[in-house]
Parts: sequence; C-alpha cells; structure tokens
Amino acid sequence: MDLKSIENIVSLCKRRGFIFQSSEIYGGLGSTWDYGSYGVEMKQKIKNFWWHDVVTSRENVVGMDAAILMHPKTWEASGHVSNFHDPLVDCKNCKARYRADHVDLTKPCEKCGKKDWTEPRQFNLMFKTTIGPVEDSGEVTYLRPETAQGIFVNFMNVQGTSRQKLPFGIAQLGKAFRNEITTGNFLFRTREFEQMELEFFIHPGENEKWLDYWCEERLNWFKKLGINPEKLRLRPHDKDELAHYSTACFDVEYEFPFGWSELEGIADRGTFDLDQHNKYSGKKQQYFDPQTNERIIPAVVESSAGVDRTFLTCLVDAYCEEEVRDKKRIVLKLDPKIAPITCAVLPLVKKDGLPEIAQKIVEDIRTKYSAFFDQGGSIGRRYRRQDEAGTPYGVTVDHQTTEDGTVTLRDRDTMDQVRISTDNILSELQSRIQ
Ligand code: GAP
Repeated sequence: MDLKSIENIVSLCKRRGFIFQSSEIYGGLGSTWDYGSYGVEMKQKIKNFWWHDVVTSRENVVGMDAAILMHPKTWEASGHVSNFHDPLVDCKNCKARYRADHVDLTKPCEKCGKKDWTEPRQFNLMFKTTIGPVEDSGEVTYLRPETAQGIFVNFMNVQGTSRQKLPFGIAQLGKAFRNEITTGNFLFRTREFEQMELEFFIHPGENEKWLDYWCEERLNWFKKLGINPEKLRLRPHDKDELAHYSTACFDVEYEFPFGWSELEGIADRGTFDLDQHNKYSGKKQQYFDPQTNERIIPAVVESSAGVDRTFLTCLVDAYCEEEVRDKKRIVLKLDPKIAPITCAVLPLVKKDGLPEIAQKIVEDIRTKYSAFFDQGGSIGRRYRRQDEAGTPYGVTVDHQTTEDGTVTLRDRDTMDQVRISTDNILSELQSRIQ
C-alpha cells in the first residue's frame, strides 16, 4: 500500500459515512474529524473489545471514568506544566512551522526552499482554558493531555472501594487533547483524540516482569483485532525518547504507508506519579500491604493506546483493491467483530413478499449483531456498497426463499455463497464470528 492509499481511505470514509471533516460546512477545522454512523459503530466496537479484553475479562482490573477538567495542580504535579513541551521552529521566509525534531535544520525548508530558521523554542502542548464566566479572574486549567492522571489522583478512592490487592490495574477510556505543532496523516496525529489507558499497580521491583507481560498482552490484542501480524512490532525506546515520567518504554508499532509508527506505548512509570501527587496534594498515596504490614507507594506499568490510531490501523490494514471479472472491487476486509454492519440483508426484488421476509430476518439478526436492510439498486451494486463498508456477510432473499425457506449467505472476502435455512442464519453467523 502506498501513500496515495491514505487519500483513497479518506475518500472511502467520507463516501461510506465513516469519517467527515469537522465543521465541513464552514470550510473544516484542520486535522479534526467527526465519526459518521458507520465510523462510530466501528469505533465503539474497538472500544468494547478493548474494555472486555483489558477490564471485564480480568479479575484484577477495574475501570473508571474521570472528568476531563481536573484541578490545575494535577498538571504541575504530573510534570506536564514544566515538561510537556515540543521544540518548535519557524521558517522566517514562508512562516511554515515545524517540530524541530521532525526536520533537518541543516537543510532548506521543504515548503519554500529557503534556509532561514528561527532558533528552536519550547512549546507546551496542553490546551489552556479558564474555569468561571470571567476570563481574567477565572482559574486557569487545562484540557487533559492524557487520561492517566484521572486514574492516579483516584488511586486511593478506587483501591479502597474495589479492595483490589497488588498487582492490580485501573483502566480508563476517554478523550485527551494536545495542541500538536504538526498534525496529519488523517487520524494519526490530531489535537483531540481518545485514549485507552491501563495503569497497572505493582510491588516496586517487579517492573520488568510486568512490563514484559503487558507488552506481550497488548501486542496480542492488536493481532486478535485482525491486524496483519507481519505489520506489527514492538520497539524499545532509546533513552533520549523517554517521556519525563518513564524509565523504560516499548511502542507497539504498525507499518503504515508513511512508515513504522506508534499505536501504543507500554511504559514503566515507576512510582513517579503517585510520589508526585503525594508531594503536591499533601495526601498520602499509599497501599497497605497485608503480607508485610507495610505501607508502600506502588510502582506502575502503563499501557496507553490511541482509539483513533487503532481505528486508522484497522482501516489501512483492511483496505484492498481487487480485480473481479475485469472490474475493480474495493473491499474493507475488517475483522467481523469490528465491522460496522455484521450482516446486510438484501431482497432480490422489491416485490412478491421478499422485502417483508428480509425485514423479518433483519430483526432476528439484530437481536445479536448489527444488520442492515438494503433494497436499492441492482444486487451487484448492493454487494459492492457493503464490500466498501466492510460488511462481512450478506443474506439474499430470493424467490426460492418463498418456496423452501432458504436464503443465500455471501462471504465478503471469498464472495462464495452458500444456501442455508432462514432458521440457521444466526447460528451460522455465530459459528463464523469468533
Ligand atoms: N499516558 C501516556 C501517554 O499519553 P503517549 O505515548 O503520549 O503516552 C499514548 O500517548 C497513545 O495515545 C499513543 O500511542 C497514540 O496512540 C495516542 N496519541 C497520542 N497523541 C496523539 C495524537 N496527537 N493524535 C492521535 N493519537 C494520539
């Protein structure tokens, strides 16, 4: 897949209602995107799959949902006020702005060809806002740049009420905001995005063991999501790449058309965050260890993935252009568990009672999976539309259905069709979807 394919994916997303440019009728807002009906369905399925795999299926992980706005001291304690910076440079000639670590300052500006850079200066990535109706006298705070701090400041509340013992995790899914200097590659780097984060609290000294454990778990999660394993890898951070809070970190990376890039960071945060909140709040952030009768500050291994980046990865990985009987077919080979629509139900014609039978089948399928009724256009066109939307299965109701109660079930990827009884549609779908 080449870089042009990202443009093809952007246009497919608009055509099929996955993603639209934000506030498009006003000319759009740079690098900000809205999820349409298919997009939000698929995004929700990705989040549900994460929540199930990381939270509900585990005895030692609980969830929470913190407010986006937090006390401003949170961000002083976390180090984001003083350390969450990117170096910024401007081209003095054409005023183009870049992250200094993303350009070679010994070379000319790629926009205007002149070499006249400003000195790099540090730029804080947090969005500032004011609490209260009067801007001048209001209290300055920030839109959270990571969901993690909502977990750390609630450590005592959640541990106390859930009565979890070390090692245990607290997970959260929600929006984060960063005033990125350079955005781009569609959903890859935006200023508003969602994170799926797990803070796993452990006995200090067990960091390496749990870092290894979560690296393996999380890489496997992306594989279970149906992503091609050959395009996934774990990459250790070099010392100079580490965030201010971490001592070791691995990225799960995917090979995008624009190169290997991060989907998720799995970091050893040590006791940094609880230590800092202990200090800044003056409230003890401790765990009573019933085995040793000691109070300790637990260490943390974090897994932090981007929802939107995962969504983009699923699209890029699934996008295929094929020749079928001398015609181009665009198909999204999404894993059935995240496809927006699991099964399309298509009456062959709009008469002879076929639409009514199809409607009844849609209702049955909807008791378990998402289903879509489509009677507009030729059957071939309807299949193509569903292929583009990534719908893995299609049921066609034809005249034989009225005679013997059977329908055809079509597989999106092989385009094979089998005839099955109407009564067996749900069980057949169930057996095909893991
Ligand atoms: N709490 C740790 C943390 O936030 P991070 O590596 O800065 O670590 C974690 O971010 C994940 O959040 C990234 O791997 C990425 O998937 C997602 N992410 C970060 N910045 C993003 C942006 N500007 N646009 C989209 N996703 C982003």
